[in-house]
Amino acid sequence: MGYRMRIQQSCAAILTALVCLASAAAPTVDPRRWPAGAAGPRPDSKVEARVETLLRQMSLEEKVGQIIQVDIGAVTPEDLRRYPLGSVLAGGDSGVDGDERAPAADWQSLARAFRAVSVEKRPGHVPVPVIFGIDAVHGHNNIVGATLYPHNIGLGAANDSELVRRIGAATAEEVAATGIDWTFAPTLAVPQDRRWGRTYEGFSEDPAIVRRLGQAAVLGLQGAPGAPRVIQSGHVAATAKHFIGDGATLEGEDEGNSLASEEQLIGTHLPGYLGAFDAGVLTVMASFSSWQGTKMHANQALLTDVLKGRMGFDGFVIGDWNGHSQIPGCTRDHCPKALIAGVDMLMAPLGWQSLFDRTIADVRTGALPMARLDDAVRRILRVKIRLGLFDADRPFEQELARIGSPSHRALAREAVAKSLVLLKNDGVLPIRAGARVLVTGPFADDVGLQSGGWTISWQGNHNTKADFPHSQSVLAGLKEVLSAGGGAVIADTEDVEVQRPDVAIVVFGESPYAEMFGDLKLSLYDARAPLTRLREFRRRGIPVVSVFLSGRPLWVNPELNASNAFVAAWWPGTEAGGIADVLVGDATGKPRRDFSGRLPFRWPLRLSDPPYFNAIEDAALPVGFGLSYATPGPVATYEERLGR
Ligand code: BGC
Ligand code: BGC
Repeated sequence: MGYRMRIQQSCAAILTALVCLASAAAPTVDPRRWPAGAAGPRPDSKVEARVETLLRQMSLEEKVGQIIQVDIGAVTPEDLRRYPLGSVLAGGDSGVDGDERAPAADWQSLARAFRAVSVEKRPGHVPVPVIFGIDAVHGHNNIVGATLYPHNIGLGAANDSELVRRIGAATAEEVAATGIDWTFAPTLAVPQDRRWGRTYEGFSEDPAIVRRLGQAAVLGLQGAPGAPRVIQSGHVAATAKHFIGDGATLEGEDEGNSLASEEQLIGTHLPGYLGAFDAGVLTVMASFSSWQGTKMHANQALLTDVLKGRMGFDGFVIGDWNGHSQIPGCTRDHCPKALIAGVDMLMAPLGWQSLFDRTIADVRTGALPMARLDDAVRRILRVKIRLGLFDADRPFEQELARIGSPSHRALAREAVAKSLVLLKNDGVLPIRAGARVLVTGPFADDVGLQSGGWTISWQGNHNTKADFPHSQSVLAGLKEVLSAGGGAVIADTEDVEVQRPDVAIVVFGESPYAEMFGDLKLSLYDARAPLTRLREFRRRGIPVVSVFLSGRPLWVNPELNASNAFVAAWWPGTEAGGIADVLVGDATGKPRRDFSGRLPFRWPLRLSDPPYFNAIEDAALPVGFGLSYATPGPVATYEERLGR
């Protein structure tokens, strides 16, 4: 080996060691750079007095119970007699007695059973109602029959804060109807890299949009803030998640490391939280991700000094699913570090009995200071009081009929129509109401596929028609609208040459995925079958409209170029009739409803466009781009920019 090469190698080794050292040391932050008092104060002396009274009566075991949240798959209501836990959750793959498809009434009974045991009068027990949380992230999506709305990326395209508020309120009604108190939403991520499999959970790459819509979502879910019992019946607690920088990880890796500067955290990733704080959000979830090499669950500077200290957040910080176990030195069942850093409640779905015992032991030895435990419990009690959990029966729970109600479904349909972004149209749209339309493609008649991840199950896969009793596929919506206008849908099984449809609509896209399984190495769309169909229709002289359902912008130039019109429809949820409302015009072919959606993320047009949004330059379609019937855009020049 040459001298020069050896020097180069040892330099590289030293450099790696330095980088490692730098990332092992906890990154420093300067709380004075963060907005003072952004999250408060909202103290109410009556609430505080009640908190102190309860705290004084509680035993060490009861206090430790409050700070542990367990999944319903691993705990029964009866367990709460022995272990006075503060919270239960239904994770993405959890259901009533293991049944994800249990009827809504069973969810309600389960929630009531947990609550009943927690507030039971027993000797030596201070009744504190359990708080039940679930991921209602695009409607009450774990429940069969619930109304599902477009995922946040679609709402970012609609960019209508009043619409987002109404969706939040409607979702809260359905959650409250099942007796559940709290949703782990909204996600306020500002995704930076479209390879991230949770891009669709974010509203936009534009922090200003995330702030406005995040505020509206919390306002809808929780209702307008008011003291002392801020949350009215029919509303639920919201969660601002995942604090902070979840969308900034290197290469879009889920739960990865973010190298954002403190300035970027404040400028790009904080604004969504400021919106949520303005709406009085009750809880914040810590992010799985790391910031500059330190797990957010261990970041005392950001969770305690900044969030609670400088910004004055007085609700509680919930950990993410076993997130504490990822801290070096911690395990699922032992992690004083996360609590000391500022996590107030550990999401400890499984193996929690030993976590309970070991945390009690930590307080006894002083490994976890009593003052920190008391502070965490105070915050949890404060939220429970504000939420009205201590008040007698919450009347809204009688309202199971709200689940999938006609007004919620109409709202979802409106949201779908508003979320559509028109990327190309040579005049084929709108379709005349009396037209004969061939509708095809793998996503045309499948409500499961069109609903994306976090739908009945965690990843949203393996769903069938029976799972969506109140719903409309893209095909069903087109049938409804076309037959009302004197037109017809032609089945794909019929001979195209004989039938000669006026237009073909091909519905295709990304199959559902959620965290961990949705990350991409390359950011291309690579299901090629639809392309063959698109080209075949073109060859036969049949104009073709592509409806693309996805959780992110992807490079689809071959499909764009093979289509006469191309619509980005994201993952719309259960009411795809909103697509027909915009695509199909009146009898004379005039629009009935125009496109109003605009890109919430840059859309790549060059194969070489980097997956980092802010690295895409002139060839991309920018945030805010979207054609409409009123402003059709110069198709010819536009097409030249596309490349192959
Ligand atoms: C996700 C959270 C979610 C939680 C509970 C975690 O894996 O990151 O967003 O709220 O699970 O299902
Ligand atoms: C749960 C999800 C959770 C995930 C995290 C799944 O089994 O259902 O809610 O987010 O695990 O690993």
